[in-house]
Amino acid sequence: MSLDDKATKPHDRLAQALAADMDQVNALIRARMSSEHAPRIPEVTAHLIEAGGKRLRPMLTLASARLCGYEGPYHLHLAATVEFIHTATLLHDDVVDESTQRRGRPTANLLWDNKSSVLVGDYLFARSFQLMTEANNMRVLNILANASAVIAEGEVLQLTAAQDLRTTEAIYLQVIRGKTAALFSAATEVGAVLAGVPEEQIKALYDYGDALGIAFQMADDLLDYGGSTAEIGKNTGDDFRERKLTLPVIKAVAKADAEERAFWTRVIEKGDQREGDLAQALALMARHGALEATRAEALAWSERARHALRLLPEHPLREMLSDLADYVVARLR
Ligand code: IPE
Ligand code: IPE
Ligand code: MG
Ligand code: MG
Repeated sequence: MSLDDKATKPHDRLAQALAADMDQVNALIRARMSSEHAPRIPEVTAHLIEAGGKRLRPMLTLASARLCGYEGPYHLHLAATVEFIHTATLLHDDVVDESTQRRGRPTANLLWDNKSSVLVGDYLFARSFQLMTEANNMRVLNILANASAVIAEGEVLQLTAAQDLRTTEAIYLQVIRGKTAALFSAATEVGAVLAGVPEEQIKALYDYGDALGIAFQMADDLLDYGGSTAEIGKNTGDDFRERKLTLPVIKAVAKADAEERAFWTRVIEKGDQREGDLAQALALMARHGALEATRAEALAWSERARHALRLLPEHPLREMLSDLADYVVARLR
């Protein structure tokens, strides 16, 4: 690897290596995101899709398929499928979370309304199912249909766990494995399945996606308390305002004394939040090393992702996936 290669981010190196495929995926996404009959659909989808996004999940599908030696055309359809599922969940998620910023732009629910976001999200979901059937592979359909159910399940579980101080780390893990990691692992798994590699390698790519997704969401939850809005393209402190029991909060609550517990009960359970409460929450997290501990767990999951790749043949894409696992938590270092 040259110095130049090292200087670029793993995400960019992956994008470069997959550029030809990705161009086709983007063309496919554009072709399928429109609608002849309802102009609101292309308005909303273009707003979100043209804003970019990292295209992490479709790259995972492409990389997985290529790394496994796939030569056919259907990894393109599956990559577009996972980005559609992702985009649909974002439209719905921003309604549920009442978010105002996404990909550095105002959210669709803010620019249009909740109704448009929900319905266009449904449309994208349906489009994703049309796309995935084109691969004519029952096992792939099964994986993506399952992932779609598990994502929704994770979001609903999170809804009922929010505002509940009894939420454990085990429940948190279940939530993020569902709402986030399920699509990462499906994205990598379908690439391997399509290529028809041995089960051991399919499992390795599944495990990689699962661990990467968990590390990614832990990093995201940490940045909600420690990042900057400019850095993440969405507002920080949202999780606190929404009274979500993310890992940093769970860890701080576990170590709270009586007075601190009263604070958490007021701001999270009762939702009585005042000026300075976010700063106070941060101070309590710092006192108990909650942010540090969350960071350590994200790093451990990233390490697990890298470890899973050992079962795959040597390949430049394997190294890029390994570096990507490093990168999703590198912003936390
Ligand atoms: C956002 O995912 C949703 C989470 C799982 C935190 P990304 O950060 O991959 O979103 P885009 O596609 O790059 O905007
Ligand atoms: C993202 O979850 C949506 C899904 C993974 C379905 P979050 O609500 O935690 O992430 P952001 O902060 O809105 O991107
Ligand atoms: Mg959200
Ligand atoms: Mg959410």
